[in-house]
Amino acid sequence: MTQERDSTTYAPSAETVARAHVTAAQYDEMYAASMQDPEGFWAKQAERIDWIKPFSQVKDVNYDFGNVSIKWFADGSLNVAANCIDRHLATRGDQPAIIWEPDDPQDAAQHITYSELHGSVCRMANVLQSMGVGKGDRVVIYLPMIPEAAYAMLACARIGAIHSIVFAGFSPDALAARINGCDAKVIITADEAPRGGRKTPLKSNADAALLHTKDTVKCLVVKRTGGQTTWIDGRDHDYNALAAEASDSFEPAEMNAEDPLFILYTSGSTGQPKGVVHTTGGYLTYAAMTHEITFDYHDGDIYWCTADVGWVTGHSYIVYGPLANGATTLMFEGVPTYPDAGRFWEVCAKHKVNQFYTAPTAIRALMGQGPEWVEKHDLSDLRTLGTVGEPINPEAWNWYNDVVGKGKCPIVDTWWQTETGGHLMTPLPGAHATKPGAAMKPFFGIAPVVLDPQTGVEIEGNGVEGVLCIKDSWPGQMRTVWGDHERFEKTYFSDYKGYYFTGDGCRRDEDGDYWITGRVDDVINVSGHRMGTAEVESALVAHAAVAEAAVVGYPHEIKGQGIYCYVTLMNDREPSDELMKELRTWVRTEIGPIASPDVIQWAPGLPKTRSGKIMRRILRKIAENDFGSLGDTSTLADPSVVDDLIENRANKG
Ligand code: WT7
Repeated sequence: MTQERDSTTYAPSAETVARAHVTAAQYDEMYAASMQDPEGFWAKQAERIDWIKPFSQVKDVNYDFGNVSIKWFADGSLNVAANCIDRHLATRGDQPAIIWEPDDPQDAAQHITYSELHGSVCRMANVLQSMGVGKGDRVVIYLPMIPEAAYAMLACARIGAIHSIVFAGFSPDALAARINGCDAKVIITADEAPRGGRKTPLKSNADAALLHTKDTVKCLVVKRTGGQTTWIDGRDHDYNALAAEASDSFEPAEMNAEDPLFILYTSGSTGQPKGVVHTTGGYLTYAAMTHEITFDYHDGDIYWCTADVGWVTGHSYIVYGPLANGATTLMFEGVPTYPDAGRFWEVCAKHKVNQFYTAPTAIRALMGQGPEWVEKHDLSDLRTLGTVGEPINPEAWNWYNDVVGKGKCPIVDTWWQTETGGHLMTPLPGAHATKPGAAMKPFFGIAPVVLDPQTGVEIEGNGVEGVLCIKDSWPGQMRTVWGDHERFEKTYFSDYKGYYFTGDGCRRDEDGDYWITGRVDDVINVSGHRMGTAEVESALVAHAAVAEAAVVGYPHEIKGQGIYCYVTLMNDREPSDELMKELRTWVRTEIGPIASPDVIQWAPGLPKTRSGKIMRRILRKIAENDFGSLGDTSTLADPSVVDDLIENRANKG
């Protein structure tokens, strides 16, 4: 993967500028206003949302370590589902809210209007209520990318219950940990999840997970394939049968702006994944605003984000942002390469997609298949292209720009995180020139700072590099870690006092534009999925044959980063190909297929300091095949282990 910087700039066309919600001059003016008077700025933006009780306070934030507290619009009340559905019914009841494109292109797409969405969400809310779900209760959602996933999210929001979505690629163990982590009352799943022509047995995964949870957890099962499932009477509930009987009206609950809307588990540099908590008023305001402005979404457009609702991108930019704006949002069940490498472009042409939002890993995979897969399809409706999840290499950016966008669609490289709720840095289509691989400019209300990693002092001026922090809060920011506020403060507010620490490195170039350089902690980014190396390590050492493990990321052509594991076996165990295979399967079982090790190297010893700390810097270099710059190894307890690791580096060459 080429990582060299390409500083060519691409200015937006006159046509793009003429259409845009925000031009360069407007950006400057609005950005300045958002910095000078954040309260005034956000009070105005919150008018995007229908409030039941208007707020009188806008912002109440304390970033001081030990007392961190973040509140927006704290005395206002609203309902998110009413904002995403009911308020559109009078004007766009017959407009598609969701276009659903199934895994198999031979199956029919569905167009779900706002009225139909209203009925389905109310039915689901009634079903959940009949299962005992009320305000503040937690509901785990473990579903394929089917419309019922959106219904489930919105039904929870309508009741005032808190959803926690678990990506369908997670294993039963990971699912159980998340059900227990938030003490969920109900899990919503489906019989099977078709993806790329294969089927994941979701219900049987849920069955396995439920062996490790409280007996009181109930399971609501959506029929997707009709595949056989085991059934436990009393525990398992048939969604399709219950919804058919349920009423299609349900009064939306009045929620405080700071009531939790959802929990979403994400990986960090230490320990097990943490439950990121997003709340109601600020989150929705921020998701709606960024969706409209970043993608330059206009009424009547067809918008497609290819993410899965199991990730924050799917929350903010498939469901909440677009529906709050009354948009038509496309939901895709499949994968980019099924049945062939033209699928994305076939879907774009079929549904006349105007804004398309995907991840660098997908772009790289498709780029490798050649331009003919794109050229076969009519992409003349495309106007904005987006990317998210990891730094995009210039080669992939240029291909996206030239082959997909034909040089006429601005690329918004949106940098943000599960924690941030919405985009924090991105060029805006009609306001900014773009550069291949740069996140360019802060969104309104966002004050990025580049800090010296050692001293924590702000580095002023341009042409500088350091760690990326944010100076002040924005409405979409996470509020806490579920059940562990201390961990929240420690993770984000303790290393650099008075700032929100992003965990990313960043460069502000000579023009003052921002480039994300990647994580500065032990988090790796595999195909745009965030993975804590500590999580994979603890999965490995849980295997009886493993004495010790160290996991690092290394550059991977398609995935961005691959998972490289150094494994030290117990004295009585011998390395073998079978054991290597067994460990791979083991990690998949412990965490899920997304955590499959790409490389396992047997390590008789790991490089450690005399105090026993593993020197990951050295392991990273070896994994990268970069032996010339290992740095000082003389402080190691046993420097000879390094020679052994180099000598035996896995998949040599
Ligand atoms: C991490 C957050 C936000 C939705 C998807 C991932 C990396 C994300 C970009 C980008 C460079 C990016 C960062 C960030 N990242 N977008 N446009 N350019 N890096 O959410 O799983 O919370 O991961 O993804 O390292 O910290 P996430």
